[in-house]
Amino acid sequence: MVIYEDKIILAPMVRIGTLPMRLLALRYGADLVYSEELIDWKFLRSKRTVNDILHTVDYVDQTDGTIVFRTCNEEKEKVILQLGTCDAGRALKVAKLVENDVAAIDINMGCPKEFSIKGGMGVALLAQPDKAYNILKTLVDNLSIPVTCKIRIQETPEKTLELVEKLASSGISAIGIHGRTRDERPQHAVHTDFIKHVSQRISIPVIANGGSKEIEKYGDIFKFKDLCGSSSVMLARAAEWNCSIFRKEGLLPMDTVIKDYLKLAVDYDNSPSNTKYCIQNILRELQDTPRGRQFLDCQTLKQMCAIWDLEDYCFKKQSEYHNMGIASRWQVNP
Ligand code: FNR
Repeated sequence: MVIYEDKIILAPMVRIGTLPMRLLALRYGADLVYSEELIDWKFLRSKRTVNDILHTVDYVDQTDGTIVFRTCNEEKEKVILQLGTCDAGRALKVAKLVENDVAAIDINMGCPKEFSIKGGMGVALLAQPDKAYNILKTLVDNLSIPVTCKIRIQETPEKTLELVEKLASSGISAIGIHGRTRDERPQHAVHTDFIKHVSQRISIPVIANGGSKEIEKYGDIFKFKDLCGSSSVMLARAAEWNCSIFRKEGLLPMDTVIKDYLKLAVDYDNSPSNTKYCIQNILRELQDTPRGRQFLDCQTLKQMCAIWDLEDYCFKKQSEYHNMGIASRWQVNP
């Protein structure tokens, strides 16, 4: 059973929070890791498959063969699947499918993107608290694993507390609070005082979020936690940029992080496009350097690995998988 007190957590991030990044975060020291947001109706197109070669459980889209969600034993007790949903019945169907493969389920009630809002998901749910409550209550009543949600703050601390009290009464195990309103963007200051107002008055653990701009080293995580008076902290961008932020011993150089990440991407046969996207978000402005441009031309894991002296590692692993009969779509003549 997941305990949400005193935890440092990898926040949900679309395209970033796939298996290699989640395992990297755990190996560096994160206590819990969220998946990227997965949309319920898309998830329902997938079929659960055990991958005997990679030792993973794969949810494979039946229409195009892509992997919607890949997980493994190493993260089983620590991975929280985040769902994008506007429908209690559909959310429950997905949750029942994955109930034995993940540690908990989270509902995204904070995404302000047009796609989410138009679909009645993400932050749109906060304008319909009865509906949001109903989704959570349905999950809590029918699942054997904990249920949480991640929200944004309202216009005032009092309104935020009122909303959290309503959602908490569904029986959820914890609540993630991103300290920005639906109209505020990442560059806006985070309202730690709003989170603190709620943390001090609510009995379930609060997971504070939104502090990445001020979190440059491990110790900063606890400064943010203190400001929010929260039980736990969840990091998105700080981890996206340098996942070793979770290390008690301190940050690792960017190249070490990329190498550690790439090895996991190879080990778990991650798609080149997703791997490239994650590394681009580590490199950031360094993409505009000779090595960065060389990287941007890469199309295969092997090409990416060559830049970080991991060509042999990649070749060996891919050959091994090939000999075991893996039908990897990503491998090009291993
Ligand atoms: C996000 N965020 C996000 N939130 C969420 O609930 N589900 C998601 O899938 C995503 N996806 C996502 C992708 C990327 C690339 C970023 C940068 C952010 C929001 C994220 O979890 C977090 O709430 C904010 O980034 C604020 O926290 P930080 O970055 O200050 O730690």
